[in-house]
Amino acid sequence: MEVILAKKAGFCFGVQKAIDMVYDEANNSDNIVTYGPIIHNEEVVSDLESKGVKAIDFDEKKLSELSDCTVVIRSHGVGKKIYDSLEQKNCEVVDATCPFVKKIHKIVWEESEKGKTIIIVGSEYHPEVEGIKGWVNGNVFIVDSEEDAESINLEANTPVCIVSQTTYNAEKFAKLVEIVGQKGYDSNVVNTICNATNERQTEAKEIAKNVDAMIVIGGKNSSNTQKLYEICKNECENTFYIQTAKDMDFEKLKDFEKVGITAGASTPKNIIEEVHTKCQR
Ligand code: F3S
Repeated sequence: MEVILAKKAGFCFGVQKAIDMVYDEANNSDNIVTYGPIIHNEEVVSDLESKGVKAIDFDEKKLSELSDCTVVIRSHGVGKKIYDSLEQKNCEVVDATCPFVKKIHKIVWEESEKGKTIIIVGSEYHPEVEGIKGWVNGNVFIVDSEEDAESINLEANTPVCIVSQTTYNAEKFAKLVEIVGQKGYDSNVVNTICNATNERQTEAKEIAKNVDAMIVIGGKNSSNTQKLYEICKNECENTFYIQTAKDMDFEKLKDFEKVGITAGASTPKNIIEEVHTKCQR
């Protein structure tokens, strides 16, 4: 049986980098906390916990109680104030913010310093959006719906800079930018959507088209894994949705000549490798 493993299966570059950084840190120092769970995957979070790394959902009170520890900033990033507070608390910061998110921080910081109003297209309570907002030095709007876009009321020719949450839907971003564009502002639009999700889906579709069976690995509640499953199922009738190798009856695969494997954005490498190895036996 031929087995094709998607190159883009599992963590994107930014999340992988953050996880590598936190494991490196766990091997080198004690008293480490992550600013929020490093990834929405219980296995990874509890494995890190067993290595002494605590995930803390920070609020101002918890932040004020912190002292003399190492704080890992996850790939979503955080606002400027948080870096300032951590410095005051003598905490060492390990910054695992994804470079693509960092780039957005830089844009909104520089553009707002020039006096531009910043519009962030994204979900208001998403930690990445909160972090981006935290780098704006001035006027900022968060837009997540047509109503939000329509309700912005600034003088004509106001200089604005529009950016987006990295995981935002491209079509929705275009629609919301179009609405803001009709208002006669002096707009500078920077499309900051990251391609990682798109690339994973495109690759999965290509593989699913050319195999007899397809395995999609990921959490039951992971919306990006569900989406991957739908895409693959459309191309390949024999698509299996599993969370770990335990869910797969590998005997069933013996009837197929060619099998493809992909995985959602929060599926750890070891789970993907285990499924891959068992398919090859
Ligand atoms: Fe991942 Fe960074 Fe893109 S965290 S989804 S590579 S913005």
